[in-house]
Formats: sequence, C-alpha cells, structure tokens
Amino acid sequence: MESTSAKLLLFLFILSHYYLQATSSRVLSISPIPNEALPTRSGYLQVNSTTKSAMFYTFYEAKEPNSSLSETPILIWLQGGPGCSSMLGNFYELGPWRVVSSQGHNVEHLKLEPNSGSWNRLFGLVFIDNPIGTGFSVATTTEEIPRDQHAVGKHLFKAIKAFVALDSLFKTRPIFVTGESYAGKYVPAIGYYILKRNARLPKGNQVNLAGVAIGNGLTDPITQVATHAMSAYFSGLINEKQKTRLEEAQDKAIGLIKVGNWSGATNARTKVLNLLQNMTGLATLYDFRRLVAYEDYLVEDYLSSMEVKKALGANASIAFEVCSDKVGDILHEDVMKSVKYMVEFLVKHTKVLLYQGQFDLRDGVVSTEAWMKKMKWDGIEKFLEADRKVWKVKEKLAGYVQIWGSLSHAIVSNAGHLVPTDQAVNSQVMIEDWVLDRGLFANKEIVDPSAPSYDSK
Ligand SMILES: *[C@@H]1O[C@H](CO)[C@@H](O)[C@H](O)[C@H]1NC(C)=O
Ligand SMILES: *[C@@H]1O[C@H](CO)[C@@H](O)[C@H](O)[C@H]1NC(C)=O
Ligand SMILES: *[C@@H]1O[C@H](CO)[C@@H](O)[C@H](O)[C@H]1NC(C)=O
Ligand SMILES: *[C@@H]1O[C@H](CO)[C@@H](O)[C@H](O)[C@H]1NC(C)=O
Ligand SMILES: *[C@@H]1O[C@H](CO)[C@@H](O)[C@H](O)[C@H]1NC(C)=O
Repeated sequence: MESTSAKLLLFLFILSHYYLQATSSRVLSISPIPNEALPTRSGYLQVNSTTKSAMFYTFYEAKEPNSSLSETPILIWLQGGPGCSSMLGNFYELGPWRVVSSQGHNVEHLKLEPNSGSWNRLFGLVFIDNPIGTGFSVATTTEEIPRDQHAVGKHLFKAIKAFVALDSLFKTRPIFVTGESYAGKYVPAIGYYILKRNARLPKGNQVNLAGVAIGNGLTDPITQVATHAMSAYFSGLINEKQKTRLEEAQDKAIGLIKVGNWSGATNARTKVLNLLQNMTGLATLYDFRRLVAYEDYLVEDYLSSMEVKKALGANASIAFEVCSDKVGDILHEDVMKSVKYMVEFLVKHTKVLLYQGQFDLRDGVVSTEAWMKKMKWDGIEKFLEADRKVWKVKEKLAGYVQIWGSLSHAIVSNAGHLVPTDQAVNSQVMIEDWVLDRGLFANKEIVDPSAPSYDSK
C-alpha cells in the first residue's frame, strides 16, 4: 500500500499537468485537451428563460470547407439512451478527437487522438446534450425534463435557434439533424417540430433544415420489437426453441403497446433484450461479433476531469455521466411510442437517411427495414423496388445503399450499433456523399414533387 501511494505521488509530481484520479477499480491519469482539439465554441444554449435550464453543446467548424462558411452545411448530432450524452458521439464516435486509453505502471492513461473519419471535415458539427438533465445539460427543475417527443422537439428548437443566433454566419447554413439509437425518436421529433414551426414563421426566423439522418435507430417500436427473434435466429445465435420463446416475449410487449400500457411495454422490451442476452451470452447486443463491449466509460472517465470540464466550458459542478438514469426513467413511458408518422412527414418535405451497422441486434438492419416497409408515403413502393447497390470506398466493400426520391437506406459493413466508432472513414464518406448528393447517394429527385411545396433553402 505504502509503496503504491509513493509511486502515485511520484507520478503526480512528474506528470503535474495530468489529472490523476482513482476510481473504484482503476487509477487514471488524464491528459488535458490539447489546444488544437478544443471545440471552435462550446457552452450553453438556454431553453427556458425563467428557469435558465440549458443544453450544453460543443461546435467544431469544418476543417476543409468546400464552400464559403455562410453556405457550409452544419450537422447536429444527438445521442440516444434515452438520457445518453452526445459527448459519447463527440469523443468516442464521430468527433475530430477521440479518447484513447493506454496502460502503464498501474496507471491507465487517457488522452485524445485525432479521428481520421471525423464528420467535421467538410461540415460544421454540433453535439448537443439532449434532453436537459443529460450529460452537461442543466435541468433546473425535474418537472422540466421532457416526458415525450413533443417536449423534446420544443426544447431542441429553442436550443437550435439559440445556436444559430451565436454567429451571423450560421443563419444561412443548411442544417442536417443526425443521431443514433434513441435519437431515432429525437431526430424525427425535432425535424417534425421545425417543419411545423417554419410553416408559421417569417422566412428570416425559420430553421434552415435540409435533411435528417438516423443511425441504428429506435423509431417504430411496435414493429421493431417483433424482429429480435428472427434477426438472432438467422444470424445463427439461437435455436428454433429459443426463437419461439423470444417471440412469445415479443408478443407480450406488442400486446402491452396495443392496450396503451406504455410502462409495461417498455419493461417487456427490456425482458426480450435480457432474454436474448442470456440466450446468446454475447459481450454486447450492440454488435454480435464483439468480444468486449464498447468502452463508453472512457468518455465518462475523461470528462470527469475538472480541467477537461473547464476547457470545454461545461458546468464544473456537474458529475458527468455518459447516460443519466434519471432522464431514462422520466422517458420510460415514451420508449415504446412510435414516431413513424413524423418520418413519413419528413420524407415528404426534406431528405431522410436511415443507416445501420450490420451486426447490431438491438436496432439493426432487419429491425429498421421492418418499419420502413410500412411507411405511409407515396414513394415507398418505388423505394422498395429500387436496387440495393453494393457500396465501395476505395475499391473495398463498405456496405449497401438503396435510394429512391428523398429516402436513402445505407447498411454499413463491418460495423455494429456505433457505426462511426467501427467505420470512421466509411461513415464520413457516407455522411458527406449523402449531404452533397454524390456517389450512390446522388439523386435527381430530392423532394417528392407530389408533396406540398416546402422551401428547404
Ligand atoms: C419554463 O419552465 C417553467 C417551470 O417548469 C414552465 O412553467 C414554463 O412553461 C417554461 N417555459 C417555457 C417557455 O418552456
Ligand atoms: C469541392 O467542390 C468541388 C466543386 O463542387 C468538387 O468538384 C470537389 O470534389 C469538392 N471537394 C470535396 C473534397 O468534396
Ligand atoms: C401494465 O402491464 C404490467 C405487466 O403486464 C402490469 O403488471 C400492470 O398492471 C399493467 N398496468 C396497467 C395500468 O394496466
Ligand atoms: C441465463 O439465465 C439463467 C437463469 O437465470 C442463468 O442460470 C444462466 O447463467 C444465464 N446465462 C447467461 C449466459 O447469462
Ligand atoms: C451547474 O450545475 C449545478 C449542478 O447541477 C447547478 O446547481 C447549477 O445551477 C449549474 N450552474 C449553472 C450556471 O447553470
């Protein structure tokens, strides 16, 4: 014991610019954020002027913009959960710098390293901790934390307006809202809210929405919860008897949705996933090939450093959690509610990308295609008849792309739930080509002409 603490003191002395911290099981040394890795700007966007509740954001300007900044698209990223911080996306998935860990002398060292596939190469990139109460965002009162997707849309709209007002150059830039997992709810919610609000606002006050993208999303739970057994069975992970048992559990969740027992339905879905976990013994359902789960705790550890919090302009008195159980609990009854109708509205008025890492057993390809097929949209039959094309990046297989009109569907090869973590460069190519209508994502007909006109510029 003695000699260990002496060694630690020595470490503290030598590496005095590092932040040392003991967690229950690990001793960490945390490098500060290098200057070149700091966000272009970051801080808080107020969502309620009375209570001062506010969303935390980090913004990274485009590194190699290919147009004047006033025309360069801005991507907004929303994490899932419900209750998980977009700092996970920032520092573990698609941000310009990611947390990496290395071992040495009983101390685990955390630092940032550049991400070759960051999504802010050609575009500005904003990470927002949503809803309030998540990550570094501040919920002054618990009552203000959203309980449904309408409330989520309302707060995000305020935050986005506040963001755009930060810089006169932001006003004209096309905005693409993107996100993952439970953001399969948030992204449609804010997209829908923007389109509805824009219709009643003078042009100068509208939000310049140009498209939405969802990665491995939960969007239409009643359809998606019915697909786990099939997905796992045809991936060779369970036998027919287990498939039948899982189907029975799935049917329970569906039955509870049908009678509007939302809390029961959410619990029943959790049971389905626990059952599948138990049957397969996988390291994680988020990627059935993985031998160890995604290491999201690295971000939690990194952002617990006071120095890092200060450098980011985050409220230093917040004990950062990657996912907030409190926010998760408050949205418990929202989990199984569908926002498919919002996507149906969005696809008529703007463009929509749905992409999935191929090996996700929670919100994967089969799960997404199941509800896409049921979309009420004039273009859906043409979409379903369109070819699924082999997508290559630098002559190597990157996945598959199917597109018709305003709807694009991409399957990312060699990836699980966290696509940008697993396929950094390919995910960058995907988002750039989709935003810029290039490569397989090129499309002559972006907006369904039969829809009421909507000016997305
Ligand atoms: C701000 O929060 C208060 C207290 O929860 C609430 O009564 C009020 O409606 C909120 N205002 C807005 C604009 O959301
Ligand atoms: C930049 O834009 C030009 C003209 O549209 C295009 O030819 C070029 O490929 C773009 N470069 C990148 C890196 O996207
Ligand atoms: C909802 O379903 C659960 C699980 O079947 C049940 O225990 C609970 O009583 C139901 N709640 C209501 C309000 O019917
Ligand atoms: C599955 O659950 C059973 C019963 O609770 C337990 O005995 C078994 O160890 C579990 N298996 C795995 C792989 O978690
Ligand atoms: C910072 O966070 C603490 C703890 O959540 C909160 O009480 C305080 O109001 C926050 N400060 C600001 C300026 O938002």
